[in-house]
Amino acid sequence: MIVMNFKNVLAFETSCDDTSVAVVRNDGFVHACLTANQDTVHKVFGGVVPEIASRNHTLQILPLVDETLVKARMNWGDIDGLVVTSRPGLIGSLLVAVVTAKTIALAKNKPFIGVNHLEGHLLAPFLSDDEYSSPREFDYPFLALAVSGGHTQLYHVKSLGKYEILGRTVDDAAGEALDKFAKHLGLGFPGGAKVDRLARDGDRRAFNLPRTMRSDENLDFSFSGLKAAGVRLIDSLSDTERHKKVNDLCASYQEAVVESLMIKFQQAQKQTGLKRVVVTGGVSANSRLRELAETWARENNLQLVLPPLRYCTDNAAMVGYAGIQRLNRGEFSDHNLSPKASNDADDFIESARGLR
Ligand code: KG4
Ligand code: ZN
Repeated sequence: MIVMNFKNVLAFETSCDDTSVAVVRNDGFVHACLTANQDTVHKVFGGVVPEIASRNHTLQILPLVDETLVKARMNWGDIDGLVVTSRPGLIGSLLVAVVTAKTIALAKNKPFIGVNHLEGHLLAPFLSDDEYSSPREFDYPFLALAVSGGHTQLYHVKSLGKYEILGRTVDDAAGEALDKFAKHLGLGFPGGAKVDRLARDGDRRAFNLPRTMRSDENLDFSFSGLKAAGVRLIDSLSDTERHKKVNDLCASYQEAVVESLMIKFQQAQKQTGLKRVVVTGGVSANSRLRELAETWARENNLQLVLPPLRYCTDNAAMVGYAGIQRLNRGEFSDHNLSPKASNDADDFIESARGLR
């Protein structure tokens, strides 16, 4: 294996609706990471509109590059390579960063690499900055729950590039289930954080809602049944009742989502025996999920890492870290690289049937 000595990379992330640019050092230190969020643009449509997302990426990406370099106090001479999320995601969105990275790589004569967005999420616990660093002894292997508006998966992260999928949602992502419920309650989009806030003053046992395939031995999740039950519950109440009980509704629904996640997370830990556990992705911001994961880790002597939210939601720093590790192993992409809506065949290892 060729070992290279790349010190700093400039990284791009545009797989969905966030435009993000970062400068990351090979040890995970984030010199700067700037993200332009498009939430207000898509809110009126109740979801992400792909064409609008890609148009906004086009407008935002180059000013963000300039600002990120200024914030990192660096110039092009300090950047050894470029990293970009090339899969999976919305094609029109991915295309903007892939073309930008390729163009800069050509113009500045620097190597570049396209990486998988989910690999970025999985490696987020290795990031650090002036205000945060993960525990010094944190390392591979670990168990990761990646949970956001688009993904809900459990991984055995063995080492760089060796990610075994232990379980995944068979239908909707957990964040999507929270967002749909919030939207049906009239809380707007994306509503996960609002549900979290309202749930704090609610009774978690006020309404009875189903948990994901609790008894199954396999580690897959399912949220479509819960999502339908949530909609039925809201529809069964009058406007006044709905309004009066909004805190209880949010608390009960959130509890069903979070418990469903925890059931499989705990099952996976028992099956693998891994002592380091990580929660990443936008839903890891959820205060109840954090609370349950922290209690479980404390009671079972597990090392839990919850990266700060800025590295859990979609960001270019996590992508840069994944890319610089690969560049330093001598891996590069060539200029034929195209964005892809799905994973590459060798991005992840499917779990052996026995375990699932
Ligand atoms: O990782 P992310 O920013 O984007 C992707 O989906 O990839 O995650 C966004 C998701 C949304 O579903 C949002 O409602 C959810 O994370 N979310 C939360 C909270 N904050 C964001 N869900 C529950 N509680 C929160 N505090
Ligand atoms: Zn993501």
